[in-house]
Amino acid sequence: MSILKYKPHLTVRDNILYIEDISTVELAEKFGTPLYVYSENRIRENYKKIYNAFKKFNAEIRFACKANSNLSILKILKSLGSGLDVVSIGEIYLGILAGFDPEKIIYTGVNRSYEELDFAVQSGVVLNIDSISELKKLINICEKREKEVKISFRVNPEVDPKTHEKLSTGLKLSKFGLHEEQALKAYKIAKENKYLNIVGIHMHIGSQITSVEPYKEAFSKLILFVKRLKKELGIELDFIDMGGGIGIVYKPDQKFIEPEQVAESIDMDLDYEPKLLIEPGRYIVGDSGIVLTRVTTVKETPYKKFIGVDMGFNVLLRPAMYNAHHEVLVANKAGEEGKEVFDIAGNLCESGDMIAKERKLPKVEEGDILAVLDAGAYGYVMSSNYNSMLKPAEILVNGKDYYLIRERDSLSDLVAKQIIPKHLLRC
Ligand SMILES: Cc1ncc(COP(=O)(O)O)c(C=O)c1O
Repeated sequence: MSILKYKPHLTVRDNILYIEDISTVELAEKFGTPLYVYSENRIRENYKKIYNAFKKFNAEIRFACKANSNLSILKILKSLGSGLDVVSIGEIYLGILAGFDPEKIIYTGVNRSYEELDFAVQSGVVLNIDSISELKKLINICEKREKEVKISFRVNPEVDPKTHEKLSTGLKLSKFGLHEEQALKAYKIAKENKYLNIVGIHMHIGSQITSVEPYKEAFSKLILFVKRLKKELGIELDFIDMGGGIGIVYKPDQKFIEPEQVAESIDMDLDYEPKLLIEPGRYIVGDSGIVLTRVTTVKETPYKKFIGVDMGFNVLLRPAMYNAHHEVLVANKAGEEGKEVFDIAGNLCESGDMIAKERKLPKVEEGDILAVLDAGAYGYVMSSNYNSMLKPAEILVNGKDYYLIRERDSLSDLVAKQIIPKHLLRC
């Protein structure tokens, strides 16, 4: 089955892959490769789909911008009414720059420094606290600044999300969150401090989750804890944040879940009505984006056929980091049947730099353009200048229009922050 069945924003016209109404081959010619390209309308559709699925809870979305923090993408989300889930002061900065109300930004993080917490306090965002150590620093900051903050605590529900181990965040042995008894202690400490305004509770069990059961189990544990908070400490919350994590279809035959199924599986069994927050990242932007890359080499060894391309894991880290599968199409031969099996190799001097393995593709020649699909989440944000490669440009497509939303790095960017000590200047 073709993966395109799941990607209505991608179509084949006259043997060419189109994103919305724009030829990917023309984009590659005009802007060069490697190139990230996103469909604005797909982002809007995905947002609406997940929003509608959770409508019965009057849920609000806090887009997890670690998935994609390009300012134009953030502005699309803002125009849809989203808030933000951020994980660094850099993301707070970007969120505020994009025009988000700080009250609709929740700052989750782990092992944050005094300075980072202080920055967040001054920004007016909601702080989601991960440890007693962070809580103590926060109290110190608020007392010094005589400033009140809204806080929630991240609770570790000890549930296996049945995803890649590097994408699991709420296991017994995970580094994230407070386990139940510690969390209770943290709420008690917070309640006794006049500067801390307890507004919520948070969990996030993992990413690329493809079954409903982990959500059901974790959420019911969270609800039991929320009941304990009221019974034992008299705390009623404004919100319950169930995190993100809903997976997308990277492979035509893979298991996946719809947001409606997740919404169906959770039960807000409480005697009051806190707001539900959800923090999807991948679900909203993942399939909206592709990377276009040009074939530089077709190489046959006695054992394998390789296609060499002009991108590596500095452009898209997921295959190397998570062994992730991304479908690959030949954009200028998108209507042709697969004929030969190739490994697609990146251009970094690392043997782990493989974009895809054992893929059946039409006859591939040097100069062809490949499209690596589902690269809209955890794509550009994880790119780097490793091997002193240049980071790619990003394009946003909307119907028949397209926009350059980030320029490609130039060589001078590689040295922009470097300082050569005087004694080495003349070497
Ligand atoms: C705290 C938090 N919320 C939300 C997300 C978004 O996850 P996803 O992109 O899988 O929806 C993440 C990512 O792992 C996260 O760490």
